[in-house]
Formats: sequence, structure tokens, C-alpha cells
Amino acid sequence: MDMRNKDRDFIVCPCRGKSKGEIEDIIRKNRITDVDVLAQTANAGNKCGGCREDLQQIIDIVWGTNA
Ligand code: FES
Repeated sequence: MDMRNKDRDFIVCPCRGKSKGEIEDIIRKNRITDVDVLAQTANAGNKCGGCREDLQQIIDIVWGTNA
């Protein structure tokens, strides 16, 4: 799924009910660059794991490393 065109209300992790916006804020606030650290810190991506690629994309978008 392409995260770039999803708005902040988009639920990126349905298992944990976490939105793209919440995830972005947690990434910035904690300077997270690693998806495992994000999963622990945000309590997202740590149940079925199906959203992990999308979480990684959001990390890349926040830090501009998705070019
Ligand atoms: S959708 Fe995120 S852990 Fe299942």
C-alpha cells in the first residue's frame, strides 16, 4: 500500500487501531528510524505484523529516505 497519499486519519494498523498521524507523531517525537523500535514504542505492528511494511514506509516518509 502506498502511504504517501494516505491522510492522517488513515488506520495503518487495524489490529491496534493506530492512525498514520499518530504513528508519524511518535516517529518524530522519539526520532525513530527502526520499525522494531516503532512497534514497541507505538504499540503498533506487533500483533499480526501485516502493517509492518506500511510502518516502514511511514518512517521513510518522515525522514525523507523513501526516494
Ligand atoms: S495490522 Fe498492525 S499488527 Fe496487525
